Amino acid sequence: MSKPVAIVTGAGSGIGKAVGEHLHSKGYKVVIADLNAQTGSAAAAALGPSATFIQTDVSSYASNARLLKQAYEWGGNRLDFFHANAGVDDRQLLYAGADAEELDDEGLLKPLDTKTMAVNLEAVIQSLWLFKYYVRRSKEAGGGKGKFVATSSAAGLYYMTTNPQYTASKYGVVGLIRAAGPVFVKENITVNCICPGFIPTNLCPPQILDVWPKEHITPLSTALKAIDAFLGDDAMTGQAVELSQENIYFRGHVEWVNESQKWIGTESLHIWDEAYAKIPEKKGY
Ligand SMILES: NC(=O)c1ccc[n+]([C@@H]2O[C@H](COP(=O)([O-])OP(=O)(O)OC[C@H]3O[C@@H](n4cnc5c(N)ncnc54)[C@H](O)[C@@H]3O)[C@@H](O)[C@H]2O)c1
Repeated sequence: MSKPVAIVTGAGSGIGKAVGEHLHSKGYKVVIADLNAQTGSAAAAALGPSATFIQTDVSSYASNARLLKQAYEWGGNRLDFFHANAGVDDRQLLYAGADAEELDDEGLLKPLDTKTMAVNLEAVIQSLWLFKYYVRRSKEAGGGKGKFVATSSAAGLYYMTTNPQYTASKYGVVGLIRAAGPVFVKENITVNCICPGFIPTNLCPPQILDVWPKEHITPLSTALKAIDAFLGDDAMTGQAVELSQENIYFRGHVEWVNESQKWIGTESLHIWDEAYAKIPEKKGY
């Protein structure tokens, strides 16, 4: 029987690196995917021959698709675990002052740099799309059950005024896993996310790390507790797990405001399914 195969994006540093090491210690062959060739290749080399580095820009669909194809082939035609973890903070501030306003040749305001959305949200959706394709093709090599984890943030449950796009992208991840999780589990793929509090990593500028109070730090080991919970339960899906200090918290969605909204949310879905089945352009959707 071949070993299970995991991909972790943004695994050259911080949370991704810790998750890559953890999965390796649990017997996974691990693909370290990162934009940064230096840190990524070092992280893979430290794990030895049952790990490899694939340089990837998750915000490019082609690069992401190549990552999954190469990892699947390297792993002996199987993929079992994907952690969509790579993330960046806001590249341009929505509240930027007038000096950041530039016009193009037509006199139109140039768009805001939305790289954060591409890395933190769009790439997560495309990764799930790609992962499903390869899990379906992993049975012959001993796989066929998938675990998909995304890294959201506490900002995906609360908010962070200094990073409005980051907040939006991380809310998006929570919405994605809640909507898709209960559906994907029907074909043996669980879909969950972690919502970390403050973990000192390279994402945080040194100027912040220097002054941050120790009692408000979440250790990397808390992220691994959530990963273990996902690994240990093939029925656990659609969960947003908040990480704070030493603890993990399973966070439900907001309460139904009344019985009508509860009915729409929990009992009307078959009406949508039946209606979509009758609309030609929604076929296979
Ligand atoms: N550290 C925290 O306090 C905290 C809190 C909540 C959520 N998060 C989330 O955790 C995830 C991991 O961040 P971290 O704290 O470990 O930071 P980190 O900076 O240590 O690691 C992020 C890694 O992602 C890589 N990366 C960035 N853009 C990429 C791209 N386009 N393609 C591939 N790789 C790319 C970076 O090179 C880096 O190695 C992120 O999604 C972040 O938003 C972190």
